[in-house]
Amino acid sequence: MGRFRFDLLLLLLAVHWGPALSDLVISKLDRRIDLTSQIVRMTMSFKVENTGPDPVSKVSLTFPEHQANNLAVLVAVSTEGKGKTRGPTTNLPIKTNQPADSPPSLIWYAASLPKELVKGESLTMDVLAVFTHTLRPFPEKITQSESQLFLFQESAHFPSPYKVKSQSMTVKLPSENVESYTKLETTKFSNSEIKYGPYENLPPFSYSPVIIHFPSNKPFAVAHELVKEIEISHWGNVQVTEHYTLIHGGAQSTGEFSRLDFQTRPHIRGASAFRNLLAMLPPRAHSIYYRDAIGNISTSNIYGDSSKTLLEIEPRYPMFGGWKTSFTIGYGLPLQDFLFQSEETRFLNITFGSPMNDILVENLTVKVVLPEGSKDISVSVPFPVKQSQETKFSHLDIAGRPTIVLEKINVVPEHNQYFQVHYKFSNISLLTEPLMLILGFFSLFIACIIYMHADFTISKSSPSYLAKLQWDEVLGTIQQLQDMINRCLLIHEKLEASLRELSRTGDVQACKAVRKAADTLLKDVSKESKPLLSLLQSSPQAAHIFPKVEELVVKERDLQEKIMLKHTMVVDSYEKKSGGKDFENRVAAIQQKITVLKQEVDDLVEFVEDI
Ligand SMILES: *[C@@H]1O[C@H](CO)[C@@H](O)[C@H](O)[C@H]1NC(C)=O
Ligand SMILES: *[C@@H]1O[C@H](CO)[C@@H](O)[C@H](O)[C@H]1NC(C)=O
Ligand SMILES: *[C@@H]1O[C@H](CO)[C@@H](O)[C@H](O)[C@H]1NC(C)=O
Repeated sequence: MGRFRFDLLLLLLAVHWGPALSDLVISKLDRRIDLTSQIVRMTMSFKVENTGPDPVSKVSLTFPEHQANNLAVLVAVSTEGKGKTRGPTTNLPIKTNQPADSPPSLIWYAASLPKELVKGESLTMDVLAVFTHTLRPFPEKITQSESQLFLFQESAHFPSPYKVKSQSMTVKLPSENVESYTKLETTKFSNSEIKYGPYENLPPFSYSPVIIHFPSNKPFAVAHELVKEIEISHWGNVQVTEHYTLIHGGAQSTGEFSRLDFQTRPHIRGASAFRNLLAMLPPRAHSIYYRDAIGNISTSNIYGDSSKTLLEIEPRYPMFGGWKTSFTIGYGLPLQDFLFQSEETRFLNITFGSPMNDILVENLTVKVVLPEGSKDISVSVPFPVKQSQETKFSHLDIAGRPTIVLEKINVVPEHNQYFQVHYKFSNISLLTEPLMLILGFFSLFIACIIYMHADFTISKSSPSYLAKLQWDEVLGTIQQLQDMINRCLLIHEKLEASLRELSRTGDVQACKAVRKAADTLLKDVSKESKPLLSLLQSSPQAAHIFPKVEELVVKERDLQEKIMLKHTMVVDSYEKKSGGKDFENRVAAIQQKITVLKQEVDDLVEFVEDI
């Protein structure tokens, strides 16, 4: 117990501190603390009264620093009047509000009232505070067969900056078992609840430390990291993929793990372990899968009804304290359940957090991948998140898909609220990919026709040794030209990659350096190609293939020119920080040509390869 820090002791000094606050008095305060899971939830019901002459518009809430550091959620609602005349509840905006003369180790928040509280008036305020990393395993290390024990520290008096006429605190434990708990003059333990109070007429910043030591074998599933990707396809699907890095966040497991012991008597020989996790997916989720680094895991169960789909997943091994696992779950959702349209604007409305039961996510990244061509994107999330944007490329994409990235730390189930992504999209864009596919198949078709009609009799019917030698020379030349073309194509790819890198980092100099190197290389290639082409042209044996080879060289030059043009335009626009719709249209037009040329070059390369 010696290592257990009493941060709160500092508060004892504060009893006589009392900065001159408004004349608010808390006539009644009931606190309930729920310790039945790894996430600690505190609900508080305040009755606040204004006894002074001045109207009051804010109510301060104070938490010890070590609690405030782990505060994941703080919400307050107020109700006017009392009893039967109670009005509707209002959500109160909350801000941190640290006064200069605060007692040490106290963090202040202020809830703004919907209207000022004048002399003699009172209101009811309900507050929910959710804390993570608050239960400390003690002992910190246990063996496979031991139960986990935790310490919880609190003050039986809420350290309020106002006088409190009457207050009580109830702590709910996961079971009826308790190792030990602080007994004050009014402490009652019954069933699985410990009640402290009521305490009457406490001065501001009252403090009375309480420590509870209790067993809990609830799953302590902590996701160090969760990356959730939501990809919208206007063809009818929302695809969700969630990558988890999960750890058992309870007491560290020591000693040898015996699977035999665990399997024969799991509840005794592995009480602190968890074997499965439950995810509540939206109704009508389909194509659900669950896999880890080794492959798909089939030991998962799916139950569904009209309001939800339950997915029960079972890692390959039971999870003991400190053990880690990484896995991915994925599922598809019907588009019409989550994507809505008002005039030109479409919006996605979907939940933010993890669908896993009672999981704590330390670092959550939510990515929303919108269809290519989406514009005027805006996001609304009901709590603060870090927001950025990137571009995702997949096959057939020309400009890439705009991707919204939202990041938040310390995410608890209370954060599973709906958020919205609004964007504009024209239906023409929807046809780009199918058109490209059609174009691709068409080119393939043409290539096949050319292939069927080509004359392949030459090599079979070369009559003399001389002719064979000449033919070998032709083949060698074509081979060299082919290698050159391949080198050019590689350089094109590098140029394209440098543009993507530019859009990611904005580093114009790096992009220019790539361009300069490419220019030199391409010039060399061009020089080399001239003698080879004239050799081929002068050889009678190559007469029937020369047009194709020449066409390939010409098309490749053309492609090269277009890629260079696009490169110059994009780099210029970055340098001059210009852009705009007109610019985008011009780039898109060039890109269209590039795509067509690429296909043509590919087909010709294939043709030449078959000579
Ligand atoms: C989570 O984020 C914090 C700060 O944002 C960082 O220090 C930490 O390394 C991250 N953890 C993981 C597992 O990525
Ligand atoms: C895993 O399951 C998914 C979805 O059912 C499937 O698409 C994928 O091919 C499977 N992978 C393996 C390695 O079996
Ligand atoms: C998002 O969906 C939820 C559940 O269907 C609904 O309650 C909420 O009003 C929706 N939000 C918006 C902005 O449409």
